[in-house]
Amino acid sequence: RGLQFGAAVNHTLFDPNEPDYARTLNRHFNAVVAENAMKWAGLHNNREAFAFGFADAIVDTAVKNGQTVRGHTLVWHDSLPPWVYTIQTREELLRAMQDHVTGVVTHFRGRVHIWDVVNEAISDAPGHPLRPSPFLNLIGPDFIDEAFRATHAADPGAKLYYNDYNTDGLNGKSDAVYELVRGMLARGVPIHGVGFQAHLNTDFDVKGAQVQANLQRFRDLGLDVQMTDVQMTEVNVQLRPARPEADELARQAAVYRDLLRTCLNVQCAGFVTWGVTDFNSWRAGGRPLIFDDMYDPKPAFAAVAQELAR
Ligand code: XIL
Repeated sequence: RGLQFGAAVNHTLFDPNEPDYARTLNRHFNAVVAENAMKWAGLHNNREAFAFGFADAIVDTAVKNGQTVRGHTLVWHDSLPPWVYTIQTREELLRAMQDHVTGVVTHFRGRVHIWDVVNEAISDAPGHPLRPSPFLNLIGPDFIDEAFRATHAADPGAKLYYNDYNTDGLNGKSDAVYELVRGMLARGVPIHGVGFQAHLNTDFDVKGAQVQANLQRFRDLGLDVQMTDVQMTEVNVQLRPARPEADELARQAAVYRDLLRTCLNVQCAGFVTWGVTDFNSWRAGGRPLIFDDMYDPKPAFAAVAQELAR
């Protein structure tokens, strides 16, 4: 189907006592995202030197296994090392952000072809203004354009994404992202895609939320010859507590199926689950993934496989 079907991964991948992890990942997924290893604090905790070890291990393993890698994420309000907060002027922070982006993207050039350049810049507050962060506060709203320009300069061949959550359906927050991206395209900022995180639960109604209409309007934003790429980037569908387990697993499978079908309907570029199995999910209590604690496929796995075979 030409789809990147990915999973977020972490150091567990290299645990010799946990061979099923790598086996499951490599058998079923053709794309990976570092769950944490490429975040600012993961790569650049020390201002004077990058630490690429863990991220390199993930990327090299993926390349060896024929998997593509999404780079996640260059500029985010979260996971920032303390030194970033000590910066006091616009000029110095802009320079630091550009240096970070340039150093990271240059290092992975040729191995990472897609970057989440800016993550979660829109707030959940009424009206959905830009989210307070050192970047917004000191540099101003144009930190977003500047981050994309620096990434493009470091790797002109990479696809550059804006990524956010609670933007899967038509709603006020996705409207705000839409306006942001529209403005960037109008200003000639190099942006090629939008990622929709899809942190969901079994109450989510893909049709009711109008996910397809939302994804399609972003696709249509692109230039005449090339549509905007879209991906579901951090999919997990949590079970709701205190409900019959079989019903919940079936409901979870239906949400995965509907979401993947919608993604395929708009020719999305990728569908990434946020983890491989339930026990290494960041929301392990909600058992939100397609493999269970024993690496066994769940009803959601069957639904996904069936949808891909349609
Ligand atoms: C989460 C990871 O899954 C956790 O392990 C970590 O402690 C915090 O970050 N949005 C994102 C992801 O873009 O990077 C976040 O990942 C989840 C929310």
